Amino acid sequence: MRIILLGPPGAGKGTQAQFIAKAHQIPQISTGDMLRNAISAGAALGKQVQEIMDSGGLVSDAIVIDLVKDRIAEPDCVNGFLFDGFPRTLAQAHALERANIDIDHVIEVSVQDDAIVGRMSGRRVHLASGRVYHVIHNPPKTEGKDDSTGETLIQREDDREEIVRKRLAVYQEQTSPLIAFYQRLSEEKPSLRYSRIDGNGSVESIKSAIREALER
Ligand code: AP5
Repeated sequence: MRIILLGPPGAGKGTQAQFIAKAHQIPQISTGDMLRNAISAGAALGKQVQEIMDSGGLVSDAIVIDLVKDRIAEPDCVNGFLFDGFPRTLAQAHALERANIDIDHVIEVSVQDDAIVGRMSGRRVHLASGRVYHVIHNPPKTEGKDDSTGETLIQREDDREEIVRKRLAVYQEQTSPLIAFYQRLSEEKPSLRYSRIDGNGSVESIKSAIREALER
């Protein structure tokens, strides 16, 4: 199964991606995690993208498309994958089409901007794995520590309110056109399904709604 999780920053894509990837035994491919890992490893790519990520802008299409093409050529993607945060521009979606990478299901998670700003201020992440927590809505078992490794959780640079608001504006301008793009594509291609999930409930209720959409 090849799935795209689409939605604004903070909609809960990373949180839900972990459940879907486990249930369907497919890797979660988060371009945000890949780029953050390049930064923390001190890689040349990381140096190239850090400033733009910290400011809430989008990394260039060429960089992200190359990253994704290399990643999905790895053996663990043979039975499918879950894109989390990719594609994020029409150019990225067109690159998938041109490469004949057929998607089975696009899941849009929709949440209002004000709820998102609240979520981001409480978010904590485990950088190495991409596991996501929230100090109130989804706390780790031990405060400030990853449940699996016990390593320290961090707060992302781009989770400050003014940067979150910029990321939401970038989403509206550059990513939200993908909603109409994939809805239209799903009408043309019987093999592609499009589902819109209300991302405002509890983590558990959204997990159930996504599971039902995928099983339908
Ligand atoms: P990326 O890492 O992809 O960030 P994002 O899409 O902005 O999404 P987030 O990770 O911020 O949010 P999420 O939807 O995963 O929510 P989460 O589950 O964490 O991208 C970062 C940057 O990298 C971009 O700005 C860009 O610069 C660059 N980049 C990445 N991909 C790119 C691409 N394709 N092209 C160009 N540039 C790219 O949840 C948020 C919080 O809410 C958590 O604390 C969570 O615990 C909590 N939460 C989750 N669900 C609920 C709920 N139901 N109720 C209450 N709280 C909840």
